[in-house]
Amino acid sequence: MKRFSQKHLLGIKDLTREDIELVFETADNFKAIINRPIKKVPSLRDVTIANIFFENSTRTRISFELAQKRLSADVINFSASSSSVSKGETLVDTVKNILSMKVDMVVMRHPAPGACLFLAKHINAQIINAGDGTHEHPTQALLDAYSIREKLGSVKGKKVVIVGDITHSRVALSNIFCLQKLGAEVMVCGPTTLIPKHIASLGVKIEHDLMKALQWCDVANMLRIQLERQEIKYFPSLREYSMLFGLNKEKLQKLNKEIVIMHPGPINRGVEITSDVADSKHSIILDQVENGVATRMAIMYLLAGSSPQ
Ligand code: CP
Repeated sequence: MKRFSQKHLLGIKDLTREDIELVFETADNFKAIINRPIKKVPSLRDVTIANIFFENSTRTRISFELAQKRLSADVINFSASSSSVSKGETLVDTVKNILSMKVDMVVMRHPAPGACLFLAKHINAQIINAGDGTHEHPTQALLDAYSIREKLGSVKGKKVVIVGDITHSRVALSNIFCLQKLGAEVMVCGPTTLIPKHIASLGVKIEHDLMKALQWCDVANMLRIQLERQEIKYFPSLREYSMLFGLNKEKLQKLNKEIVIMHPGPINRGVEITSDVADSKHSIILDQVENGVATRMAIMYLLAGSSPQ
């Protein structure tokens, strides 16, 4: 029987290609189950999972909670804004208090890169990174790659361009690791100011002309401009950004081929993507959301059965 190699899911960087393929095969089974009239399985009965979110989330949080409920786990939801964190309690103290109530697994989103690794070193539960600052968002990358595999049959050999705010994006870094491990070619495209200086060392192509990037790719993953993480201005205006790097119907019509359009959400409609593209037949944005549940079920199921390292 194949086993997941990791005790935690801290980042895609730690995973092998075999781990990712195991997640996909397991997610295929769970996707079939959650499309049946009876959607629940007892796989994680008696496993208690805490969802600890120090940053806002819609998709990731709901998707994890639904996945946990479909697996029959017991679920605790914790939001920093309504907790004693606002009274000065530290991250480790907060989590130790939650764990003393016999929690087995922690799903955490935190604004600080490395927060999940820090937690994994200090507590004795399994940790899943639901996004740590500008570092990694591993379950987003897994559901993105799973959605490409579903749409195009495989990820190997496909050309994927990630467009937008690469500097501040945890989705970009996790996607680069995941797609490369699966044999895809990856390009990043955006304004010079939003492409990290040393990104080429990861083996990705760099393009600053969106039309050239679209001509090259099979899949375009359009990222949100992360204004909340930008302390300075990286481009003159959202209007100019949208003209140069936003995807609209006119740009798609100029291509002599069809490409798959993705977006991790939340979407800034009219900035990185127009509504007519986001809601078009080329877009798999809602498939990504749907696949998030099966992919997260697979991750939690595999971690619960993994041998701790
Ligand atoms: N894609 C994503 O992480 O969305 P949320 O911030 O809504 O969870």
